[in-house]
Amino acid sequence: MSPVPVEFDPVHVAANAATDLHMYRDELASKDPMHSVLEANPEIYFVPPKRSSEWGQWEFKPGSYYDTTVGSKHLFWRDKDLPITTKDIRRLRADMLNWGYCKIDNALSAEQVAVIRQRVLEQAEGERLAGIAQRTPSGQNINCCVNKGRCFEKLIEQHPDAVQAGPLVEQIVLEALGPNWISNSLIASISLKGGVPQALHQDQDIALDSRSPLTLNVMTVITDIDETNGGTLVIPGSHRTLSDAVRAQEPVGKLPPAINMDARAGTIVITDGRLVHSTGINYTDIPRIVMLNGMQHPVIRQQENWMLSVSPKVLKRASPKLLQRMGYQATNAAQTNEGHGFGATGSVNEAAGLTVDFRLAADDGHYLRVGELSPNSTAEELNAPYTLREVVAKARAGGQSAPVGIGGTKANP
Ligand SMILES: [Fe+2]
Repeated sequence: MSPVPVEFDPVHVAANAATDLHMYRDELASKDPMHSVLEANPEIYFVPPKRSSEWGQWEFKPGSYYDTTVGSKHLFWRDKDLPITTKDIRRLRADMLNWGYCKIDNALSAEQVAVIRQRVLEQAEGERLAGIAQRTPSGQNINCCVNKGRCFEKLIEQHPDAVQAGPLVEQIVLEALGPNWISNSLIASISLKGGVPQALHQDQDIALDSRSPLTLNVMTVITDIDETNGGTLVIPGSHRTLSDAVRAQEPVGKLPPAINMDARAGTIVITDGRLVHSTGINYTDIPRIVMLNGMQHPVIRQQENWMLSVSPKVLKRASPKLLQRMGYQATNAAQTNEGHGFGATGSVNEAAGLTVDFRLAADDGHYLRVGELSPNSTAEELNAPYTLREVVAKARAGGQSAPVGIGGTKANP
């Protein structure tokens, strides 16, 4: 056997990999824009108080980002034309562009709100009783809601049965993210008395110089929110301030103060993923509930691992739209399964990219993956009922031609 060239020896590689020689060293090490935000805004915490039991004793600092109120009562903001709660798409667009969020009036009817509120409260209590409640510094979260009630399946779809403003919500998301966007997760966020504020942050943590958002949060307000019960803290307009600074490679500078979001139950607030925000403080005895439904460009990795976590029952009854939104539609660039999905755009009902049958086969213990094959393989190996074969056949029967690279092989006549 010929010797391995010395350039491939780990010791040789390490000896030639001093940090100051790295490609893209400055870009990857950059902490912007948050580094310069912290420098210019020392009153802004990016690390929340450690324990809720300490809250109010020494952690609270007057003038900090959470020591604030709603826009209409805030000395700095009350004369500014901040987002209004409206059904007018033109105003909603303008608020998204100017301030990084918009508020859709009565997006859920009172009945639609009541269904979700009851399900959230029951589920939260059930998870506490089961000893699996997911506590947060602010209270309690219910994760992977899709498995925990039909109303949540429809909420992810923005189905008019659950969200009367569904078509309007989806139009705003479409205009911001482009076609075939998917969902990041659906979480019920419950803020409780005694909880501490969340650190200010941007949800979008990649491409922070982007001119348009790559992620959004569709926040459904289930209990009225304001400065008394943990209304989300936001710095209006920060989506543009921060991305402009990163693009210009300049410090962010002094930011305006944060405000508490105020919105009535049934409002949907859509926030730009670049907007600086966090959970506020609930000073009341009533749980504050918002549903957090992130939406994002289809090639970004999702928060919830829907590929594993969604229950078979939900998957089997899921509409094409729900499947697509959870990521069960491959795109040419993401989530192809054994190659199925190459050439697909990720749109709803695109048989060439639908991957749910692989997951269902795995659940049943029947998923047969293509393994090592060669001219010496047996006829049994060559003609095995590979799941890929079945999925591709089904896609073709659905009127779609198989994607490039899958069709036309000898083993798939
Ligand atoms: Fe967030």
